[in-house]
Amino acid sequence: MTEALTRLQQRVNESLSALIQSELDLGGGEVVQEAGRVLLAGGKRLRPLLILLAYELAGGKDEEEIFPLAMAFEFIHTATLVHDDIADEAEQRRGIQTIHAQAGLAKGIIAGDWLFVQGFGLGGRYDETIVKLMAQCCANIAIAEFHQLDHVLNLATTPEDYLDIVRGKTAGPFAAGCQAAGLVAGLEPEAASALNIFGMELGIAFQLVDDLLDLRGDERMGKPRGADVYEGKMTLPLIHALTLSHGPHRARLASIIEDFEDEQFDELMQLLERSSSLEYAEILVRTHLERAQNALAQFPDGDAKDLMMFITEFVMDRHA
Ligand code: IPE
Ligand code: IPE
Ligand code: MG
Ligand code: MG
Ligand code: MG
Repeated sequence: MTEALTRLQQRVNESLSALIQSELDLGGGEVVQEAGRVLLAGGKRLRPLLILLAYELAGGKDEEEIFPLAMAFEFIHTATLVHDDIADEAEQRRGIQTIHAQAGLAKGIIAGDWLFVQGFGLGGRYDETIVKLMAQCCANIAIAEFHQLDHVLNLATTPEDYLDIVRGKTAGPFAAGCQAAGLVAGLEPEAASALNIFGMELGIAFQLVDDLLDLRGDERMGKPRGADVYEGKMTLPLIHALTLSHGPHRARLASIIEDFEDEQFDELMQLLERSSSLEYAEILVRTHLERAQNALAQFPDGDAKDLMMFITEFVMDRHA
């Protein structure tokens, strides 16, 4: 990351730490410790960074006006991760043990709720339009996570199903966050919706990359490789390969997906490569990132725009 982004990230981290410390001082105890452990374990802070930058891009001048919204989205994001890890039975997140793995299912659920509520406490001070954007994007995450669960191991899942799920669970919060930041800065609704498109397109690319990284495996991710295949999650490379493969290759691919074991990883990757399914997903990543960049064209050039452009590049090259 650039020096400017690293500095902004540090300020986000300091503010999150201070919020957790003040809740501990108020006597929050174990629930705050557990929620704080994951919150402060070192996420990339992309959502708050983009909110701060979108506000500046939209002409906002008073950082204190926007900081609580940036914090709100990071709390809510972390809440969704805590609950997502329960749904996905994941033991690791951000390089540490998940809350449900460490403290049990009930505490994991409650700590996730605590994070959600803190998020809405921070975001609830804004105008009704903003609060509605937050609530709607959280509702859409829930809808998408149900949708995804209902498609586990469904080999007939279509690219449209996949995109619907990704828009709801991942891209929607990026979109709502950037749009809300623009509105807080005083943009007209139409200009703010360009920021929504930016966030949506960036978010789609972001999830496509996340799904590719899960297949390729990289220890910097802080979560083990192949987790999606174990879960039976129908990501785009699998959907694409199932569509393009025929005969024995299609049958073998289906049987590997249906009953996946780690020893089959290399064979799975070979089958995906036969149909160029990883390249296909990469092309889509680039298409969505270009659309994200185009959505910024109408805004004035400057530091904020440069850094948002930089983040779109970062999404493509990221390893964690
Ligand atoms: C993880 O999000 C969940 C997805 C949407 C893929 P991030 O990759 O932004 O996670 P952190 O916040 O950096 O840990
Ligand atoms: C994204 O989906 C999670 C949410 C948006 C809640 P994943 O299930 O792919 O996220 P990871 O891979 O566990 O981070
Ligand atoms: Mg998951
Ligand atoms: Mg999940
Ligand atoms: Mg993933």
